[in-house]
Amino acid sequence: MMAIRNIVIVPNPVLRKKAHRVDEFGTDLQELIDDMVETMREAPGVGLAAPQVNVSQRVIVVEFGDEEDETVPSKLYAVVNPEIVKPSRETVFGIEGCLSIPGLVGEVERAESVTIKGFSRYGQPTKIKARGWLARIFQHEVDHLNGVLFTDRATQVWQPQPDEERVLVT
Ligand code: NI
Repeated sequence: MMAIRNIVIVPNPVLRKKAHRVDEFGTDLQELIDDMVETMREAPGVGLAAPQVNVSQRVIVVEFGDEEDETVPSKLYAVVNPEIVKPSRETVFGIEGCLSIPGLVGEVERAESVTIKGFSRYGQPTKIKARGWLARIFQHEVDHLNGVLFTDRATQVWQPQPDEERVLVT
């Protein structure tokens, strides 16, 4: 049965640990991923990393639609042991928030495009090419697995105003 899990917030030390690689793709992992998807949707957020639900394992979920075409439904990704490969030299600035750092947003420089290598929830090797906001979300989530928070990378951090431009919360 799926369940919404508690999202841990700073300064919980689990957010600063390097998460463990997953080597068993069994029932516990399936349950974790189902719960992470439900927790992300309920928050709501566009991404979630396992340490944010107090599980120090290398698992992320991302759900985000096509920014240029709102008729394209958002796509759900669950990636186990994700790695960012081939980050573009070109970088972009964007505003990020984090479900584990309530009440703050920040401007963060990220690679404009990346390839994410990892495994599906069933253990099949997978490779995802992402650019723009989707690439940003994946970089933010993989940072979580290494104990890195957006506030470590932000050039500025502030409390969002009600009329704030688009902010990603992950
Ligand atoms: Ni986050």
